[in-house]
Amino acid sequence: MRKPIIVGNWKMNLTVPVAEKLAGDVASGYQADWADKVEVVVCPTYLQIPAMADVLSGRVGLGAQDLFWEEEGAYTGEISANMLKELGCGYVIIGHSERREYLGETNEMVGKKACAALAAGLVPIICVGESQKQREADETNEFLEKQLLAAVDSIEQADMAQVIVAYEPIWAIGSGDPASPEDAEEIASLIRETLTDKYSQAEAQQCRILYGGSAKADNIAGFIGQDNIDGALVGGASLDAKEFVGMLTSVVK
Ligand code: 13P
Repeated sequence: MRKPIIVGNWKMNLTVPVAEKLAGDVASGYQADWADKVEVVVCPTYLQIPAMADVLSGRVGLGAQDLFWEEEGAYTGEISANMLKELGCGYVIIGHSERREYLGETNEMVGKKACAALAAGLVPIICVGESQKQREADETNEFLEKQLLAAVDSIEQADMAQVIVAYEPIWAIGSGDPASPEDAEEIASLIRETLTDKYSQAEAQQCRILYGGSAKADNIAGFIGQDNIDGALVGGASLDAKEFVGMLTSVVK
């Protein structure tokens, strides 16, 4: 059985004190008896990460929004997987569409980052998603398959079970207009089939697949009720503790 997981991606938002308050509110909203039913992770900016360890009090997982694939050296401005580990991160988002779009992140870079995360013992949350243009041209499935296979290309079979894949259709991000749970399920099932073909049924069945794109408290139940969707990667709604904890409440019901 795959345990549902809700991941908050805070993106480039909040000051350190506000981030601390939000993390504290999420941690106190997360009930101890939910531990078997839902996992929760927040991904603040790098600069907010050091302030998180105490406030999250171990109940809420900590993740980063990116990393660099080398271990150390002359890579100005970059942060390595081990640096994230040192500060208590257990997860890292890789290949978010905003990084692909604004920072030129390629499939090859995404693949290298995912491997670096795994090598350091971080769970990579690999993002894939089609644009509105690709959707209209009916290229979604072909595009996603390619994007996913490129990202997992060098990931060993033994590591695959812990990898998380987030399906985030670009047109649904921040639009207030999510994909329908049925459409998202169709893609989640395509993702699982693609992983089954590349690895095996066992790995593909353990791998968690998330939906992301305008997910919130009043629509999460529809996504989580699908066979192949194991949670959500949440942007806007994760910046409001009440809304975010509302999503968790809805998942444990
Ligand atoms: P929204 O939930 O704001 O649509 O953002 C989704 C997202 O990009 C999470 O990574």
